[in-house]
Amino acid sequence: MTQDEAKRLVGRRAAELVEDGMIVGLGTGTTATLFIHELAARKLKIRCVASSDASHDLAARLGMRMESLKELPELDLYIDGADEVCLSAGGGIGTGIVVGLDLIKGGGGALLREKIVASAAKEFVVVADSTKLVPVLGKFPLPVEVIKMALPLVEPKLAALGFTPKLRMSKDGGIYLTDEGNYILDCWSTGIAEPESTAAEIRSIVGVVEHGLFLGMATMALVGGEDGVREFRA
Ligand code: 5RP
Repeated sequence: MTQDEAKRLVGRRAAELVEDGMIVGLGTGTTATLFIHELAARKLKIRCVASSDASHDLAARLGMRMESLKELPELDLYIDGADEVCLSAGGGIGTGIVVGLDLIKGGGGALLREKIVASAAKEFVVVADSTKLVPVLGKFPLPVEVIKMALPLVEPKLAALGFTPKLRMSKDGGIYLTDEGNYILDCWSTGIAEPESTAAEIRSIVGVVEHGLFLGMATMALVGGEDGVREFRA
């Protein structure tokens, strides 16, 4: 099975979790895009909020009813992809019950709005192909969203935490800007052994808007691979 096939599989399974009448958060990225297509095809009576302009525009084009957190401050369900998924075993990974479900997100640049929408949802289901499963977070560079004028101050502070920050560029060669007009520093490391304390340290840097560590926010993971879709509940 290719990575794209696995993403499609979890996108379809996630769309099946949605029921008529629900208020649904739509994530961002290639897996979330596949989910949005599957969900639109079901033609349910639902109201949605998106975590990026791209997902908002796509869903609107597909005929979905799009609103904002102003109208819909509480969501039943948020479904989104991730760059890394770290499961720590509860009853044992084989049982599908996990104690920890921690993520790195923001590869697509939408981490701030993603965290905001996720925080408004009763359930956050992360959809990922099995290549995203890691024993320790941090092989994928951690995206950190930064206010432009603070960049020269934030960069050395992230370096002092042991990261190698790299300013994200766009495909056209300019500096990448988020939907909120901020910069992203992709922070390389050899692994984030203590995600909770690292998250707190990054958060305490003035000028950091948000970081891509989503710790204990997801309530379920759908992981697609050779065995089909595996479900893990936190
Ligand atoms: C966007 C994200 C995405 O969910 C993450 O990058 C995974 O993307 P993909 O589904 O394309 O692999 O966090 O900011």
